[in-house]
Amino acid sequence: MAGRIPQTFIDDLLVRTDIVDVIDSRVQLKKAGREYKACCPFHNEKSPSFTVSQVKQFYHCFGCGAHGTAISFLMEFEHLDFVEAVEELAHMAGLEVLREAGFEPGAQSSTQPLYELLEKASAYYRQQLRNHAQAGHAVDYLKQRGLSGAVAARFAIGFAPPGWENLLTALGTDATARKGLQETGLVIERTDGSGVYDRFRDRIQFPIHDRRGRTIGFGGRVLGDDTPKYLNSPESSVFHKGQELYGLFEVRKAMRKLERLLVVEGYMDVVALAQFDINYAVATLGTATTPEHLERLYRAAPEVVFCFDGDRAGRQAAWRALENTLPVLRDGREARFLFLPEGEDPDSLVRQIGREQFEQQIGDAVHLSDFLFNHLASELDIDSIDGRARLVDQARPLLARLPDSVFRQMMVEQLAEIARTDVSRLEKRLVKPAHPERSRQAPPPVQGGGKSPVREAITILLHQPELAQQLEALPFPSSGLLPGIPLLAELFELLKQQPGLNAGSILEHWRGRDEARHLGRLARWSPLADELDLAAELNGHLAQVARLLAEQRIGQLLEAEAKRHLNDSEKQELKELLQRRQPET
Ligand code: UTP
Ligand code: MN
Repeated sequence: MAGRIPQTFIDDLLVRTDIVDVIDSRVQLKKAGREYKACCPFHNEKSPSFTVSQVKQFYHCFGCGAHGTAISFLMEFEHLDFVEAVEELAHMAGLEVLREAGFEPGAQSSTQPLYELLEKASAYYRQQLRNHAQAGHAVDYLKQRGLSGAVAARFAIGFAPPGWENLLTALGTDATARKGLQETGLVIERTDGSGVYDRFRDRIQFPIHDRRGRTIGFGGRVLGDDTPKYLNSPESSVFHKGQELYGLFEVRKAMRKLERLLVVEGYMDVVALAQFDINYAVATLGTATTPEHLERLYRAAPEVVFCFDGDRAGRQAAWRALENTLPVLRDGREARFLFLPEGEDPDSLVRQIGREQFEQQIGDAVHLSDFLFNHLASELDIDSIDGRARLVDQARPLLARLPDSVFRQMMVEQLAEIARTDVSRLEKRLVKPAHPERSRQAPPPVQGGGKSPVREAITILLHQPELAQQLEALPFPSSGLLPGIPLLAELFELLKQQPGLNAGSILEHWRGRDEARHLGRLARWSPLADELDLAAELNGHLAQVARLLAEQRIGQLLEAEAKRHLNDSEKQELKELLQRRQPET
């Protein structure tokens, strides 16, 4: 279906993207001169050697050698593939990803047919909600739950009609499709092996979308009080419950810049809140909040409010969420907890008190720090020395899970205050063991030293691509036989054709090619002195390349002359080369 993403789209996307924003929302950057710095997210370090250049739209780490463009950063940091990273950037820039018509490289992936099948199933269920003879009671149910048609459409809610083989008949038209239906759990094999039947029967269908909007599974609710109340698609090669969040795609579609996400427990909660124009709720899929969920949540918004029942089970679930949240709480990220009155869930509450009051409660949600200390203290007598000692004991491993941050420092200070002890003594006991095995082997530093003039020229062009505009052409043929000349010639050609590229967008033109590694390494360079006249430097290096090529040619011709007679044009060429030869100064 979808074709290749054209290079022109990537160019355009990178022009509209600022790598500083992309990285800063994930790793807090500090301005340092013209560049930005942070502790490297790709290896463990105490002092920042991770550098981001806004001018070049390029990052690199002096410590571990990681480097690349905004796209590479997302691929590395968020474990995305190239297309996903481009889609993420496009989303941030408010662009639709363009595709070339026609062929798709790498042909069909093994999961592609499953996505297509799930999409068809979703369309089928929606259609049944409109047309099926018994859709009436499903529609009545949704109305009785207070859902508007608009919100049902927005969440693509559908209806699985009663009967054992509806979907099977509609979509299982050939063996491949029937296999896909089974792989995605839309149909189930009979225990006696006599065939398969629809998993979802007589249920309201909530399609679950991944971050790209593809349907990856369903939750299906009974229309009455039967059990199980919800049936969910099983795990499959496209559906991983521990990673996905119901409603996240819809949230991101509705709101470009997200300040806050609300994590609730149920499908109905997400949908009901959206109906009340609270468009930033997502739900886990019947599982506890995993670290993968948390990474996704904080990538989407800096503040996450967890919504739980006020009862014991709810508090326990909230505590588990707190424990999982600690390691991802870098500065700039916030976690809070909203405990609902017993017997209420967000769906019932928002219908009772309305949007405004509900949002006020979100605004008053308990901060993670308060929840943590209050929860621990509630089970101890902190008026006694013993109680305070135990508080420190229990809080310590929790605080140690926080990343090194201002927030962690403040938590330590608060613990010291509650425990009436000394901050510095607490801190000493908190020091985390380093994980040397996790840091990559640092490559040797990338400093000049014996660089060829070809590499020097490439380096300068990457640093200041607009210098290419000053030259008509390279002062030597692109067929010149020195290492790197084809690359330099190709780079020069690109810059002549597309002025306005920066190092990052240049590198994207080489993605997937061997030379990308060299270019990436050269792109890290920046001049030691600002006042360096780079135009003159570039000309100097190019002239030297031309000279080297001329010498090479002279050598060839002289060698040939010793063995045989040169023809006329060769003689002429040698003569000119020798005349132009200038003593090197
Ligand atoms: P709830 O029972 O709180 O669901 O379960 P809800 O969304 O409030 O449902 P309504 O309001 O009764 O319609 C919360 C979540 O737990 C999972 C589902 O993901 C549900 O949304 N769950 C619940 C199941 O997977 N199976 C069940 O039988 C019940
Ligand atoms: Mn409910």
